[in-house]
Amino acid sequence: MVKYRIAWMPGDGVGNDVMEATKIVLDKLALDAEYVPADIGWEFWCNEGEPLPQRTLDLMKETDCALFGAITSKGEDVSQKELIPELQGKGMTYRSPIVRMRQLLDLYICLRPCKGYPGNTLNYKDDIDIVVFRENTEGMYVGVEFAQVPDEFYAVKGVEKLARDAAISIRAITPKGAERIVRAAFEYAKKHGRSQVTAVHKANVLRQTDAVFMDAARKVAADYPDIRFDDANIDAMGMWLLKNPLNYQVIVTTNLFGDIISDLCAQMVGGLGFACSGNIGADYAVFEPTHGSAPKYDGQYKVNPIATILASKMMLDWLGEGEMATRLEGAVAEIIAEGEVRTYDMGGTHTTLEMAQAIAAKL
Ligand code: IPM
Ligand code: MG
Repeated sequence: MVKYRIAWMPGDGVGNDVMEATKIVLDKLALDAEYVPADIGWEFWCNEGEPLPQRTLDLMKETDCALFGAITSKGEDVSQKELIPELQGKGMTYRSPIVRMRQLLDLYICLRPCKGYPGNTLNYKDDIDIVVFRENTEGMYVGVEFAQVPDEFYAVKGVEKLARDAAISIRAITPKGAERIVRAAFEYAKKHGRSQVTAVHKANVLRQTDAVFMDAARKVAADYPDIRFDDANIDAMGMWLLKNPLNYQVIVTTNLFGDIISDLCAQMVGGLGFACSGNIGADYAVFEPTHGSAPKYDGQYKVNPIATILASKMMLDWLGEGEMATRLEGAVAEIIAEGEVRTYDMGGTHTTLEMAQAIAAKL
């Protein structure tokens, strides 16, 4: 019997390259795990009309957690034309598999550590060490959108001000959703000896939804008197982060703001080649690099696997393999500090697999 069963989801494009690289490192660590391949990605949209098939969701229920590479989707261009002829005109609509996974499995925490490893010439400033807690299931991502205002909405006060042809998206924030993400941020701060949590919002404009978020935040903060609590508007936060990144330790925010601010933080510590995420629920989690499938680099073994390797480090921590996680992070830090093995984003010519082998050799 193996200790862990891990759903293995390379997905599309460079998702395959970085997952192959990560496997080298996990094998070197000799994690006692079975990696169970799972169907996910663009080809399943084209052939089945579903990029995240039910059998994959079922498999996730039987595994301990998942490691996910990347998926190609074509935004608003996703159309019926991509489907095999038998499926065309059957009303299939493309939905982002990662967003669905987060919602269906209630992976309410999107944990995005953004840490500048010493020696990384791509760091905006050394010593940046910010952890973003992004709410992962609601907010602007609930998927309630209308191409134009439905007639029945006009009965609601205030809606009559909207032009008939306005497209609208609903932002939903629940007290429960707000409470649990803020609590997760404070628990993390407490566990990792961080002395400050910053809640990010736009409460001066989004008066209802961000009032719910901030009420919950203040309530939770009161349970942690030893941790400093402050807050900022999302726009000001963008400026403050660039001005004084070292003033921030743990940021907690709603879904879309977290999407935006986590990219900003990631860029300050080397960009997408280093940015990793954990989508974490009460008893399941999906770890992934924050980057996409980069179709132009597909199969070229060019991109930096460190983001995915650090995602696997997060996975090890979550599984309770803290010692292995620490060793892995140490090996990554050492390779970065030496600066000899560098992928193209780091100004070098090493391949995805060479980077992984170099990290594995340090283990
Ligand atoms: C992310 C990505 C996704 C998101 C996209 C791919 C739907 O940007 O994980 O940050 O918006 O959440
Ligand atoms: Mg994003």
